[in-house]
Amino acid sequence: MSLYDRVFINNQAWIAEKKATDKEFFQKLSQGQNPEFLYIGCSDSRVTVEELTGAGPGDIFVHRNIANVVSNNDLNVMSVIEYAVAHLQVEHIVVCGHYYCGGVKAAMQSSDLGILNPWLRNIRDVYRLHQEELDAIDDEDARYKRLVELNVEEQAINVIKTAVVQKAYLERGTPIVHGWVFDVHTGNLIDLEFNFEEKLRKIQAIYNLTRVVQ
Ligand code: CO
Repeated sequence: MSLYDRVFINNQAWIAEKKATDKEFFQKLSQGQNPEFLYIGCSDSRVTVEELTGAGPGDIFVHRNIANVVSNNDLNVMSVIEYAVAHLQVEHIVVCGHYYCGGVKAAMQSSDLGILNPWLRNIRDVYRLHQEELDAIDDEDARYKRLVELNVEEQAINVIKTAVVQKAYLERGTPIVHGWVFDVHTGNLIDLEFNFEEKLRKIQAIYNLTRVVQ
């Protein structure tokens, strides 16, 4: 039986399993959500954040798109960030990329991909910003992996550029923005451990949006 044919059977099995450990599970779930963090990741079917982190329903607010891009004129991702920070008051925002990302790979190649061109342009821009470092890496696989990491870092910086994140951090000291990479080859989730405060300071030298114009 194909997965498509199995989904509703699987769903019933999942309900039974949840109720077996907690009778009130769905009653509690229907009372609202209070997720601790926002996860911005790639749409890639192999990168299933809940499964690989052990999170359950209600734990993580999620946005996924091709190559985990945070573009300032993308109403979708910007609305997700606004809602997660201003309304759900998440404490952490994670941008998570993954090695062997088809979107990043496509952005390293010279081909016309139609409507994907403007999307992948975001990643080509990351390459241009770090061209010196990337061009110096001879091994293509290593260069590709490094671009995945740099893309995570630049997209996290794009999150930090938003007014809602800067203002919330000034008022309550959260959210903290993190960068992760999932290694599809080993299953490891890697924290790039960048210094959020330092990044925020650098960004605010140019992109400070915390002041209200009278
Ligand atoms: Co991907």
